[in-house]
Amino acid sequence: MKIEFSKKEIYLKDIKNVEKVIKSGWLTHGVFTKKFEDEFTKFTNSKYCLTVSSCTAGLHLSCIAAGFKKGDEVIVPAMTHVATAHAVELTGAKAIIADVDYISGNLNLENIKKKLTKKTKGIILVHMAGIACKLDDIIKLSKKLKLTLIEDCAHGLGTMYQNKHVGNFGITGCFSFYPTKQITTGEGGAIVTNDIKIYKKIKRIKAFGIDKDIKNRKIPGDYDVKSLGLNYRLTDFQAALGYNQIKNYSRNLFLRKKNAKRYSEKLKKIKFVDFPEFDDSNSYFVFQILSKYRNKIIKKFKKLGIGFSIHYLKSINQMTYYKVKNNIKKYEYKNTNKYSRNVISLPVYPKLKNKEIDFICKSINETINE
Ligand SMILES: Cc1ncc(COP(=O)(O)O)c(C=O)c1O
Repeated sequence: MKIEFSKKEIYLKDIKNVEKVIKSGWLTHGVFTKKFEDEFTKFTNSKYCLTVSSCTAGLHLSCIAAGFKKGDEVIVPAMTHVATAHAVELTGAKAIIADVDYISGNLNLENIKKKLTKKTKGIILVHMAGIACKLDDIIKLSKKLKLTLIEDCAHGLGTMYQNKHVGNFGITGCFSFYPTKQITTGEGGAIVTNDIKIYKKIKRIKAFGIDKDIKNRKIPGDYDVKSLGLNYRLTDFQAALGYNQIKNYSRNLFLRKKNAKRYSEKLKKIKFVDFPEFDDSNSYFVFQILSKYRNKIIKKFKKLGIGFSIHYLKSINQMTYYKVKNNIKKYEYKNTNKYSRNVISLPVYPKLKNKEIDFICKSINETINE
């Protein structure tokens, strides 16, 4: 039985939308970009949305909008994609790597507090594998110390915290549409915000610093530039690919949760496998388990053709750039290092069949008991 790690929810009508855009000749900042952004704000219940070329671009723009600069420190979790830390470093500020909670993989108040200094200007939170960070305490601390909070929601499409979609707690929330994510546009991302000033600032920087939308220009080139900017736009055919996926995402999310529930019920009977308890507010980007038998399990998966991933085999504190620059000592990151040794991401996508979940769980059980 071959089981893929990820399967897309892309249908003929999505391909037709892409075709429509390509045939129209209007390939960027067009109709579908607006339609996609509108659907995204609707789904996340945010005021504003801006599509971007990737989540990395979104995080970089957010860090620029936050005003992070040389001499500033921004706390990021050790257990994340390098993009989270890179976004900080690209502004000239320093990414300060903090240890995470062992089971959820998330930053928590205690580990943030250990890294606070007079230079701390912000925190980037990652909702690992779709599990919301414990935001209440972190927001309270940020307010008290006037720290800027940014949410890396690359795994968090559909993740709720106290009935509010993640991404609505920081100055921005940045989402990823990389192919393995819950919805995909190939490469791509979106930023949500509820702050009009941040929205306008990011909108300008995202497109060269230009002060006028294409539809408001009287003649080509009718715009001014008063500040620096980048080109981090998503194409209109990518937005066309994502449009139905976000419009129909509730069904995708429902099926992910159904699959996660089945995993939880089967896996809780297996010794030496840990995972966070089933939670309806988790969006289940993947179903992560932790086991000291990880390497044995993935060897078996490879033999059986079971797709899996590891988020993340090498955490930020183990990456040479950060290890050398921050003079990192291995013992500082006890939880993160254990997590990276033990974690496996199992597939949980809507098209995954019950018998496939059962087969994966059975294989894990047999491998541990071999
Ligand atoms: C937590 C996290 N942040 C940021 C990113 C970067 O996303 P993108 O590939 O869209 O730039 C990823 C990528 O997978 C991620 O997992």
